[in-house]
This record gives sequence, structure tokens and C-alpha cells, in this order.
Amino acid sequence: MTHADDSRTAATDEAPAAEAKAPAKAPAKDPWELPDVSGLVVGVLGGTGDQGRGLAYRLARAGQQVVIGSRNAERAQTAAAELGLGVEGADNAECARRSDVVIVAVPWDGHAKTLESLRAELAGKLVVDCVNPLGFDKQGAYALTPDEGSAAQQAAALLPDSRVTAAFHHLSAVLLQNPLIEEIDTDVMVLGESRADTDIVQALAARIPGMRGVFAGRLRNAHQVESLVANLISVNRRYKAHAGLRLTDV
Ligand SMILES: NC(=O)c1ccc[n+]([C@@H]2O[C@H](COP(=O)([O-])OP(=O)(O)OC[C@H]3O[C@@H](n4cnc5c(N)ncnc54)[C@H](OP(=O)(O)O)[C@@H]3O)[C@@H](O)[C@H]2O)c1
Repeated sequence: MTHADDSRTAATDEAPAAEAKAPAKAPAKDPWELPDVSGLVVGVLGGTGDQGRGLAYRLARAGQQVVIGSRNAERAQTAAAELGLGVEGADNAECARRSDVVIVAVPWDGHAKTLESLRAELAGKLVVDCVNPLGFDKQGAYALTPDEGSAAQQAAALLPDSRVTAAFHHLSAVLLQNPLIEEIDTDVMVLGESRADTDIVQALAARIPGMRGVFAGRLRNAHQVESLVANLISVNRRYKAHAGLRLTDV
């Protein structure tokens, strides 16, 4: 460095010193850099139903350890044995206790009661709500609006000691359960309050071939995501399909 360089530095000392006090901005994290979730145990409350079985099957097929939950342990064990792939069955409370991540796949009707009764078992767990509050009449499916705003917000209100997220709303249980289908061609919108938690759920979705988890906002925006299923049901009826969802340009 020349003397001239030195003096230039000295002359500009004050401003850089002030700047140096400001905390350095952390480099933006790549939103597609997701954690390794392969060691997590995934529980599925209501795992004897179509959606729960489908998710359990796909996750187990991807190598995840899965525990199916039911109101009746025997029913869960039977469903687990039918799925194979190391899936285990237990009553919902035991399923919650044994799991790191717990997917809620019970009907909207039983949502509040199920979660209220499992508050202790779900404390500290990462809860993934996939429940779509829907009504059906002769015109088809329509969205219900829970008092809390959405099923996911109801879960968060009922489970203050859990880490509640919402995802897996738009999947077809028919496709999930069909062993001849290798890839589930869909995006999964993942919502939650903590980026670390939504990253885990995105990573879990990405374990399933063809599936991609995409961060889609906080729980206050879960209602639209849950409601969209009413539209997908209309699509499916009209086109005799099992429509999924793709987000473009991400
Ligand atoms: N089906 C789909 O394609 C799909 C797709 C995306 C999201 N979902 C959502 O996933 C959830 C489950 O859907 P599903 O079609 O699998 O439903 P489902 O078959 O009617 O119910 C799932 C399981 O929940 C348990 N259950 C039934 N009534 C209950 C109650 N009142 N309280 C607690 N548990 C009860 C039953 O298991 P036990 O009797 O063994 O306890 C049942 O096997 C729904 O909220 C739905 O909106 C479904």
C-alpha cells in the first residue's frame, strides 16, 4: 500500500467506523436449503383414514419412520400392518408421544376435541395440520370458516405448547395410496410462524418423490389454503381427476 493509499484511508476513517458498528447483514439463506429430516419419527393422528394412510404410506416408502394413530390402538395396528414398510400403530396419545412430527389427519368434526385431549402429549412437538374445514350440500363442497379463522389457527389456539404448522391440504388420498404411482406430482403449501419449523415440513414433503414443499406464509393465511380444496373438489368432479397444485416461477 502506498502512502497516498494510507492517507485516503485516514481521511475517510470516520464514516467507515460508524458503518462498522452496524451489525453485518447475514447473507440471505437459500430458501431451498432444507434440513435433513430422515431421522425424525412422524406420527399421523387419524392415520387409519384415507389421507392419513396415504401420507403414512408415502413417507414410509421414502424411508421415514411412521406411527399411525387412531382412537383405537388395534385399528391402528391393523392399518399399519396392511401398509407394511415398518409402519407402526398406536392409539392417538401414544402416537403423539412417540413422534417428533405429528400430522393431524382427522375430520374437521373431530379436530378440536382430538387436539384438546392430546395437549400434553403434543407439547413441544411439531404439529402439521392438514385439515380442511368443508361443508357439502347438493351444489358440492364449500369452505367453512372456523371461529379461529382456520383449522390451523384453531390448532395453534388449542396447543399453546406445540409448534403448529399447516401443510398437505391439497393432496389426493387416492393417488397417495396407489402403490403403482411412483411420483406425486404436486407442490405442498407450508404455513407456520417459525421458519425453522416450516423448513422441516418442507423437507418432509420433499422426501416424497415428485413433491415439493413451498413456504406459503403464516397461519393467519391458512384459511385460503384450506378453502381451496373446495375448488379442487369441483375440478376433480368436472374432469374426473385427482388435481394437485403447482406454483410457477418459484
Ligand atoms: N381425503 C383426502 O383426500 C384429503 C386430502 C387432504 C386433506 N384431507 C384432510 O385430512 C383429514 C382426514 O381426511 P380423511 O379423508 O382421511 O378422513 P376420514 O377417513 O373420515 O377420517 C380419518 C380418521 O380419523 C378418525 N376419526 C373419524 N372421526 C373422528 C372424530 N370425530 N374424532 C377423531 N377422530 C376421528 C378415524 O380413525 P379412527 O376411527 O381409527 O380413530 C378415521 O379413520 C380431513 O380433515 C381432510 O380435510 C383429506
